[in-house]
Amino acid sequence: DLGGFPHYMAKEIQEQPESVERMIRGRLDDRFGVARLDGLNLTPRELRGFSRVKILGCGSAYYVGQIGATMIEELARIPADAEAASEFRYRNPIIEADTLYIAVSQSGETIDTAFAVEEIKRKGGRVVGLVNVVGSTIARACDGGVYLHAGPEIAVASTKALTNMAVGFALIALSLGRVRDLSNADGQRIIDAIRALPGQIKAVLDDEPAIAEHAKAAATAKSLFFIGRVRGFPVAREGAQKFKEISYRHAEAYQTSELKHGPLALIDDSLPTVAIVPADELADRNLAAMQQIRARGGAVLAVTHENVDFGELDVPRIVVPRTEPELDPILLTIPLQLLAYHAALTLGYDIDKPRNLAKSVTVE
Ligand code: BG6
Repeated sequence: DLGGFPHYMAKEIQEQPESVERMIRGRLDDRFGVARLDGLNLTPRELRGFSRVKILGCGSAYYVGQIGATMIEELARIPADAEAASEFRYRNPIIEADTLYIAVSQSGETIDTAFAVEEIKRKGGRVVGLVNVVGSTIARACDGGVYLHAGPEIAVASTKALTNMAVGFALIALSLGRVRDLSNADGQRIIDAIRALPGQIKAVLDDEPAIAEHAKAAATAKSLFFIGRVRGFPVAREGAQKFKEISYRHAEAYQTSELKHGPLALIDDSLPTVAIVPADELADRNLAAMQQIRARGGAVLAVTHENVDFGELDVPRIVVPRTEPELDPILLTIPLQLLAYHAALTLGYDIDKPRNLAKSVTVE
C-alpha cells in the first residue's frame, strides 16, 4: 500500500521519523547512560572481553557498517572495521575469539552475508545480527542481535532500514563504550542526541523541495563525485551508491583527503561533486578541498551544518541539523536519499525497481 505516495521509496523515506522511534523505544536507559539491548545475549563481562569488532554486510548495509565501525571506535575505543560480506566469505578469514562479529542485513536473507555468518560460527566466532526481518535466515543463525523494527521495506534502494542500522550501531557502540571508558555523562549525551533524531530527521525531510532542485541539476551530469572524510566518507559512499542504483549515473565516492592524490585530475566543469562537510574538526580541510575543485571549474554541492563558515566560497548547500559529532553520519545521509530519489524522478526511471537489481540477492 503506497498510502498516497508515488513510490515506495518516497513513502519509506518519509516514514523514517517513526521507524527510528520504533528502533529506540525501550532501549535507552537514562539512569546509567546506556542502551538496553537484551537480545544481544551478551553479559557486561562478555562485552568487556572483546578487543575488536568486525562488521559484515553487502551493498548499502556494508556502507552503514562503515558508519557503525567509526561510531564504535569513537565511543568505545575498540578497533572496528567493516568489510563486504561478499568478499569476506571467499578469503578464508581469520576468526578470533575476542572479536565481536556483527552481521548487518535488512532482509536477513542475503546469501553472501548468511555465508559469512556460517563461516564465523563454524570457526567458533561470536556473531550478532542487526537485522530487520524477524525470523529471517541471518537473524536465526546469529547468537543474538538487535532487530531494526523498520517495518516492511519494499523499494530496492534501502532507506529507513539503513537509518535504523546506523541508530543500531550507535546503541551497540554505547553498550560497548559504557563497559569501558565512556562515562555516564557521555553516555547520557549520546542518549539525548539519539532521542532527538526523529525530530531532526523530520527537519531534513521538510527541506525536500530545495533538495529536489539540487537533484535536477545533479541529474544533468553524466558522472559525479561524492566526497567525505572520516565520519563523512561512508556517508559519501552510501550517497554515491544510492545515486547510481536508481539514476544510472556514474557516481564515485572518494575520501576528500585523497582527491589531490589522483581524482582531482578528472575535475572540470562537467564533473560535479557532492561534498559532505560537517561542522567538525575537519571542516577547514574540507573547505580547502572544495576551493581546489572550484578553482578547476568543478561544481560543488555541500551537505553541511549551519555553523560551517564557507567564507568567500559560494557554493549551493543542503543544511542538516547538528547532532553529537559521533552521530552526524545518521543525519547527513538523509538528504542523499532525497537527492538520488529526485534525480531518478527527473530522469524518469523505475525508482522502486531499478534495472538489474533485486531487493535481496538470495542465490549464488
Ligand atoms: C543488494 C541490494 O543486493 O543487497 C541493496 O540491492 C542492499 O539495496 C544489499 O543494501 C543488502 O541487502 P540486505 O537485505 O542484506 O540488507
